[in-house]
Amino acid sequence: MEEDDLESVSRLHRYAFGGTRDAPSEDWTSWLKGNETFGLFEDEVLVSGVTLRPLVQSIRGVPKAMGGISAVASYPENRRRGHIRELFRVVFERMHERCMPVSMLSAFKRSYYRQFGYVPANTSPFAKTSGNHLQSLLSIRPNPAITIERVSMADARELYMDFVRAVCIPRYHGFAYAPSVSDWEWKDRAKDAVLAVARRDGRPVGIVKYRINVRRLELPGEDEQSLQILEMYWSDLEARDALLRFIGQHTGQVREVSLYMPLNEHLELLFPDAEWQMKTWQAWCVRVIDAQRSLMGLPAEQSGRIVMSITDESCGDSKSVLEVSERDGRLDVQSTESEPDCHLVSAGISALVYGTMAIDEIEHMGWARIGTDAARKLLRIWFPRRSIHNALEF
Ligand SMILES: CC(C)(COP(=O)(O)OP(=O)(O)OC[C@H]1O[C@@H](n2cnc3c(N)ncnc32)[C@H](O)[C@@H]1OP(=O)(O)O)[C@@H](O)C(=O)NCCC(=O)NCCS
Repeated sequence: MEEDDLESVSRLHRYAFGGTRDAPSEDWTSWLKGNETFGLFEDEVLVSGVTLRPLVQSIRGVPKAMGGISAVASYPENRRRGHIRELFRVVFERMHERCMPVSMLSAFKRSYYRQFGYVPANTSPFAKTSGNHLQSLLSIRPNPAITIERVSMADARELYMDFVRAVCIPRYHGFAYAPSVSDWEWKDRAKDAVLAVARRDGRPVGIVKYRINVRRLELPGEDEQSLQILEMYWSDLEARDALLRFIGQHTGQVREVSLYMPLNEHLELLFPDAEWQMKTWQAWCVRVIDAQRSLMGLPAEQSGRIVMSITDESCGDSKSVLEVSERDGRLDVQSTESEPDCHLVSAGISALVYGTMAIDEIEHMGWARIGTDAARKLLRIWFPRRSIHNALEF
C-alpha cells in the first residue's frame, strides 16, 4: 500500500472499529507506516484491508519473529466476497518473505479464522476484587535490600524492554513485543500508566505496570478509584514480595483492584482471602507460517528423531517433509526425503508448536496422523501443552 492510500486505510479502520481519530495525523500515519497494510481495491477505491505488524514472540521460551495480524476489515457492501481470504493469501506470502515463522491475532470470532489455518488458543483472564483485600498484602515483609522506584511508563521504554527480553521472553510462552515502535505509539500506549520497578543493588528484579483510574461520581468526595494492574513480572520471589507489598500500600485508596496475570502464576495464592470475579479477554488465534523455522531451536527434553510431513492447505497446499531431531537439548530441523513418521496439516503443526492442544487431541481433531507409538510418545515429551500469556494488544 502506498503512502497516498493511508487516508483511505484510516477511513476503513474508523468505519470498522470506531475510534476518534479523524483525518490521519502525522503520528497515526507513522503507526501505519511502521506496519504493512495490504488492501484490496475496486475501481481504485479501497474496500478491504489487513495489517501486518512485525513483532517478536516467545515460543516455548525462544524468541521468534511473529506476524501480528490486525485491522482485518471490509466495508459492509463488499463483505462475503472472499476479499479477506485473498488478502490473507498475500499476507502469508509476505510473512514467508520476511521470515516470520509464526503469526497471531485477536479474533472477533475464532471460528472465522479457522478457514485461514489459525487455531484457537486460551483466552486471558482479567480478575477483579475489592480493594479491601489489599490489606492482606501489608503483612508481607520484603527483603529491605529491595527498593521500589516509581516512574512514568512513557519514560521507561528502555527499562521495560530490557526486562521483557531478559525475563518475560524466556519465561512466558506467547509473550509478544514490538521491537520497533514509534515514540508516538509508545507514548500513546503508555498513557497514564505507571511502572513500579523493584531493584536489588540497583538492578531491576521486578516490574509492575499499573493505572489508577478515577470514576467521577456526582459529588467530588464520592469519586471512586480503582487500581488496574496491567502487567507484573519478577525475576525472583523476593522481588515479587516487594511488588506485592507496594501494591498493598494502596489499601484505603482504591475501591477495586483488577489484575491481568499469566494463567500459571495462580493469583489466588498471592491474595489468599480475595474472591475474584473473572472475565476472559483476548481470543487469541495462532498459526505456524513456516514449520521449519518455527520448530528450530525449541527446547527438546529428550533425544530422538522424527520425520514430519506437513501440508499447508491455505498456502497453496505447500508440502514439506522435515527431519526433526534433538541436538544439545534443542530441536534441529532439516528438510529430508525420508519416509514420514507423522503427517500434519497446518492446524496440527500450529497446535503442536503453540501447545494449544495435547497430541492426542490434535490426532482426535484429524489434524495429525501419527504412525507409531514411539513417535507419539516423543511428540508428547517435546510438545507439552502450554498456555499463552501476552499483554500486548495489536
Ligand atoms: C469480518 C470481516 C473482516 C469479514 O470480511 P469479508 O470481506 O466478508 O471476508 P471474506 O469474504 O474474505 O471471508 C471469507 C469467508 O468467510 C465468510 N464470512 C465472512 N464473514 C463471516 C462471519 N462474520 N462469520 C462467518 N463467516 C464469515 C465469507 O462468506 C467467506 O466465505 P465463502 O468464501 O465460503 O463465501 C468483515 O465482516 C468486517 O469488516 N467486519 C467488521 C470488522 C471486524 O470485526 N473485523 C475483524 C476483526 S478481528
